[in-house]
Amino acid sequence: MRDILEELEDRREQARLGGGKKRIDAQHAKGKLTARERIEILVDEGSFEEYDMFVTHRCTEFDMEKTKMSGDGVVTGWGTVNGRMIYVYSQDFTVFGGSLSETHAKKICKIMDMAMKNGAPLIGINDSGGARIQEGVASLGGYADVFQMNTLASGVIPQISMIMGPCAGGAVYSPAMTDFIFMVRDSSYMFVTGPDVVKTVTNEIVTAEELGGAKTHTTKSSVADNAYDNDVEALAALRQFIDFLPLNNREKPPVRPFFDTPDRQDPSLDSLIPDNPNKPYDIKELVHKIADEGGFFEIQPDYAKNIVTGFIRMEGSTVGVVANQPLVLAGVLDIAASRKAARFVRFCDCFNIPILTLVDVPGFLPGTAQEYGGVIKHGAKLLFAYGEATVPKVTLITRKAYGGAYDVMASKHLRGDVNYAWPTAEIAVMGAKGATEILYRSELGDKEKIAKRTKDYEDRFANPFVAAEMGFIDDVIMPHNTRKRLTRAFASLRKKDLQNPWKKHDNIPL
Ligand code: HXC
Repeated sequence: MRDILEELEDRREQARLGGGKKRIDAQHAKGKLTARERIEILVDEGSFEEYDMFVTHRCTEFDMEKTKMSGDGVVTGWGTVNGRMIYVYSQDFTVFGGSLSETHAKKICKIMDMAMKNGAPLIGINDSGGARIQEGVASLGGYADVFQMNTLASGVIPQISMIMGPCAGGAVYSPAMTDFIFMVRDSSYMFVTGPDVVKTVTNEIVTAEELGGAKTHTTKSSVADNAYDNDVEALAALRQFIDFLPLNNREKPPVRPFFDTPDRQDPSLDSLIPDNPNKPYDIKELVHKIADEGGFFEIQPDYAKNIVTGFIRMEGSTVGVVANQPLVLAGVLDIAASRKAARFVRFCDCFNIPILTLVDVPGFLPGTAQEYGGVIKHGAKLLFAYGEATVPKVTLITRKAYGGAYDVMASKHLRGDVNYAWPTAEIAVMGAKGATEILYRSELGDKEKIAKRTKDYEDRFANPFVAAEMGFIDDVIMPHNTRKRLTRAFASLRKKDLQNPWKKHDNIPL
């Protein structure tokens, strides 16, 4: 009996060593943690239950039957994060470079299936050389099985991908189908074809970091959402992030204890909007000032900075924030901003997260680059996302809400539940100068006349009251009372029940 018990311990010990001490040292030398160390940081101490520790590959090509390592390059199981369940897989680069074999894929699919059945988020920690070369098409099949599971899980459980090493070829498509991607600077990269292939095909010379590093994907491509300096920082941020999310699409986000008064007044907000309507201000100041304890977890902070997206808490409950940022491109809506915000709104709607929209938008960005790039279709994504969302939607217009962008930004007409404006709001078809120049083109030579016309237009339309008279704005609120009014608005919507007509699925303009 004792021998058998010892054998179990020996086998476990062997499996925990993965590809051996030398490869573990090599992993550490690159500034990377091992698969198991990452899980240890991610989950609450002692909470990890590992499955399939003894699984090995079944490949017999290339003498592979002589090299079998327990676990086959991926550690899978479940644990808790701040007491709430998550499923996780963590690829072990020390075993065949974390490459994906048929059995490796089966292990991932197994816990994805469990995550869906038991309604808990899936965290994928990616660190892999891609398809296990020795296994050929069996490995490709394994990838496709994972992709299929990602598709089925989408909108059912939150799926988050951590990129903590190489992620190349078709391997990038599983993370791409998940809800969020976090990367680690200087030690992770994602690309469909690597620098060597790029050089052969297009003659471009580019490093792996330039082609698919964290900076590229969080600033240029928007493939990844957030980037962190090292594994520990990334995993600590992930723990914080998971706390904002519900476990699945049938649950509400968790309510956390809060140490802030819901009706806290903030007199500094009365002077947030500059006297000159063309002067910018930082919308993030408002976001921090209305959030519980000023906390804000920003998503995609380095991409399309003209729109801000992220999560705050109000009275302990998660709220998704979408806010035009006057500091960047005057807060205009363009292709990148529309795509970024649309995906965020859809995530919130999938997972029962109420949405707060802060509006200061001069319109859509004009120009051939935008039109040729399909701003109509991309702008429609945001319109569509807001229009289909059934979660509580509270909107506050702080300053400009011009033209089509007024409609798009969670207006009353897109089933905004509570729509507020500050007294500084200007809700109109366009700015006074543009409007006057079109309406009074024949008078353009007479500067004085035009100045008077502009002033008349401003007096009549550059305010929230025309919209309020029509009921498009529910109330004009004092800036210093914003946190109180918004908190009460969300509280009043806690039992909101709204369903869209039955359909197989919609056809959002992709
Ligand atoms: C089997 C692999 C492997 C792979 C790496 N290894 N990638 N084994 N299949 N795909 C093994 C190496 O043989 C080595 O084994 C160990 O992992 C570490 O690899 P190194 O090359 O020493 O590490 P490093 O220098 O850090 O380079 C990492 C790497 C490189 C950049 C990932 O290994 C690499 O380029 N690998 C091949 C990548 C690739 O072309 N994959 C296929 C992509 S196509 P030992 O025993 O020496 O420790 C694809 C299609 C998917 O993925 C399609 C899905 C639809």
